[in-house]
Amino acid sequence: MTHAALLKAHFNSVTAENEMKFESLQRTENNFTYDAADRIVNFAVENNMKIRGHALVWHSQNPSWLFSNGAGGTVSRDVLQSRMRNHISNVVRHFRGKVYAWDVVNEAIMEDGSYRSGSLADGQRSRWHEILGEGYIAQAFRYAHEADPDAKLFYNDFYNYIPAKQQGIYNMLKGLLDQGVPVHGVGLQAHFNIEPSTVSTNQAYYQHVANLEEAIKLYSSLGLEVQVTELDVSLYIPGVTYNASTFYTAATFTDELKAKQAARYREFFELFRRYRSAITGVTFWGIADDNTWLSEFSSGRKDFPLLFDDDHNPKPAFDAVMDF
Ligand code: G3I
Repeated sequence: MTHAALLKAHFNSVTAENEMKFESLQRTENNFTYDAADRIVNFAVENNMKIRGHALVWHSQNPSWLFSNGAGGTVSRDVLQSRMRNHISNVVRHFRGKVYAWDVVNEAIMEDGSYRSGSLADGQRSRWHEILGEGYIAQAFRYAHEADPDAKLFYNDFYNYIPAKQQGIYNMLKGLLDQGVPVHGVGLQAHFNIEPSTVSTNQAYYQHVANLEEAIKLYSSLGLEVQVTELDVSLYIPGVTYNASTFYTAATFTDELKAKQAARYREFFELFRRYRSAITGVTFWGIADDNTWLSEFSSGRKDFPLLFDDDHNPKPAFDAVMDF
């Protein structure tokens, strides 16, 4: 079977993006459902692939019982702490020896460098922080380490190219290391765009290679591993308004645009290769353009962000990252 056919056969109807999230693994309290995640993990093990687990503690995609006391109110601090420990222990032990690295805490820092708190809008707020305070982060890493002392434990977040955010993440990680918390690395979610934004209030205004380089330097100066995670390169430029008539289609994803996307991938990979001693992994957020979260918009906005096309054939972007 060709590489593309193998991928198509196994990943046509699944994504590996959501199967290890809290709501997927523990939809009701203490009933762990591993079937979907096991299928992916076992496929990877059989094919000699390395597996990063995503994600143990996150503000999003949690089941509603998690933060509830079952009587219409909020769960107590002690109960939430034990629910967190129970989840992490079960999940990390289940995949012990198969998952070599975990995103233990995901997206705990905001663009201005502050902690993601409980006072934000629904969908954005962290109930972990609201109920447990910032100490939940250290606890999560301790519980994960206890469950699998051999696993590499990562803090994972996006927009690391924003100076205030990278400083906030650095400060948090330094604080954890100073307290002896077992954190081993930092994941740079790499949801990039084909070019940075020209709108100075947009996060993607900072989406330049040089800004990401600063993050890599800062984090690795702490002795942490750096991994590039969730990599994709959207065709859409943040800050530009699109509508149904300007959404990209197979016809408007021209050769010129394919080359431009390939060049964007190339400039980031040149950076990654320059920091090869610090960067221990690069993971994409999907395989081929027929299955990407970026096309999940209810508006029907189709995107083409990955290395393989809708038919699972390599794109110019693939050639660009393989050319070194
Ligand atoms: O499975 C249900 C399906 O039964 C239902 O019909 C459908 C209707 O909306 O929803 C389906 O669930 C969706 C799920 O993806 C599976 O496709 C959820 O609504 C949708 O919210 C969920 O989105 C995921 C998103 O995280 C949730 O915040 C994306 O697939 C996933 O790519 C995305 O991944 C995140 C990372 O975990 C963290 N970093 C950012 C990244 C992109 O947002």
